[in-house]
Amino acid sequence: MNPQLSIEPFSGLLPSEQQQIRAVAEEFRALFGRKPHFVVLAPGRVNLIGEHTDYNGYPVLPAAIDRAMLVATAPRRDDVVVARSTAPGTEPVTFSLAQPLRPNPEGHWGNYIKAAALPWLARSEHVAAGADLLVKGHVPAGAGLSSSSALVVGAGLAFLAAHGATDANLLTLAEEFAEAERFVGTMSGGMDQTCCLFGKREQLLRIEFFPVRVRPVPFPTGYHIVVCHSLVKAEKSAGAREAYNQRVRECAVAARCLALLLGETEPRRFTRLAEIERTARALRRWELLDLLVQRIPDRPVTPNDLAALLGATVDDLVADIPGLTPDLPLLVLRRARHVFSEADRVDIAERALWNADIGTLHAAMKASHESCRDDYEVSCPALEVLVRVATEAGAIGARLTGAGFGGCTVQLVPSGALAEFFQRVDREFYAPRLPSGDAPMRWRFAFLPDNGARVVRVE
Ligand code: GLA
Repeated sequence: MNPQLSIEPFSGLLPSEQQQIRAVAEEFRALFGRKPHFVVLAPGRVNLIGEHTDYNGYPVLPAAIDRAMLVATAPRRDDVVVARSTAPGTEPVTFSLAQPLRPNPEGHWGNYIKAAALPWLARSEHVAAGADLLVKGHVPAGAGLSSSSALVVGAGLAFLAAHGATDANLLTLAEEFAEAERFVGTMSGGMDQTCCLFGKREQLLRIEFFPVRVRPVPFPTGYHIVVCHSLVKAEKSAGAREAYNQRVRECAVAARCLALLLGETEPRRFTRLAEIERTARALRRWELLDLLVQRIPDRPVTPNDLAALLGATVDDLVADIPGLTPDLPLLVLRRARHVFSEADRVDIAERALWNADIGTLHAAMKASHESCRDDYEVSCPALEVLVRVATEAGAIGARLTGAGFGGCTVQLVPSGALAEFFQRVDREFYAPRLPSGDAPMRWRFAFLPDNGARVVRVE
């Protein structure tokens, strides 16, 4: 895969993409009184399998979707950033790159623009020059389709393109954007940003982390990916964020417990479950899980409890894990059980895709959903109904996708059976839940994996 960021000519785009670019360029001109130099298209992503594995150092299997955030940009000579959005009611954001970046209140969209500026700031030797940005979003928000990372990558590439800093390696950028997005306060992994950068038409991606590696995986012919919204918004910037961060802490503590159980002399070096597997080379995932099963009860336990159980200091368990206190109740065992088993399922699903073995893929995705629901506890009643309805309507592997706590399900549907599938899901799930006048079409869609982010020079 080409690891270098490249500038695409306008003529190389699909007519529908050209039309979107013309529209946002026109709006940019109306608002800023000049032409944008570049427009970035940064797609959302959907994850087929490998949920909550990325920050644990285990692989994921996502695809870029056919909807993108568009960011039009032109450089400024001063150090100011002016970012506007075409979304109704969104206030412009203005800040200086000459000062340390201070976060806006939690959930404010300006935080994503500030996060996006960090890779550009890191490349600037003196005071970084600013840019005018106009954001137009086509990725549904709060759907688990990663509109926030699409915004960070889109705006981040816009800063780089505006100032000619496009000689960047995409793998490096993936890591920088993942790190940068932590500015908004979510302790998330790197799946979303990497998928947004590397997406490939009609292919899935297997992404590994620490360091990031990407390889294409075939998408089964004769199927479409279908995404259905549960109608429950899962805003990672709002309530779901704390629940997400809590899972990250629980896994980090599980890794520390294993390090202690394996007699590691520096348990604080570990915060990811995959690191433990690499150290204890002789032990398999199920053997590591077995170690936990034997020593850690499957109920909420605090770091204080765990320290007593394992004969360790509480500091060995909590040091350097943000937001963790000695008396915070944690569900260590079942979170680790999800992560280890999900890591196995990603390998099984990938093999099934290479062999066009849809039955095995279905079983792996189904088991993934059950594990997300029971051990990781990131499902919700609406997602459960939707998974059942979609499965009864003939979907392959219906499961929640992304962080969970609402948002969308993902499934595969034979391309020839899409109309029938939608008819049934609309009748059984959407019709009883949507107010009259709200069309189900807004809430579910079918597509084939699409290309990743592109920087387009505006002619
Ligand atoms: C969010 C995060 C990702 C990943 C998923 C869960 O989308 O941003 O890094 O952890 O949740 O798989």
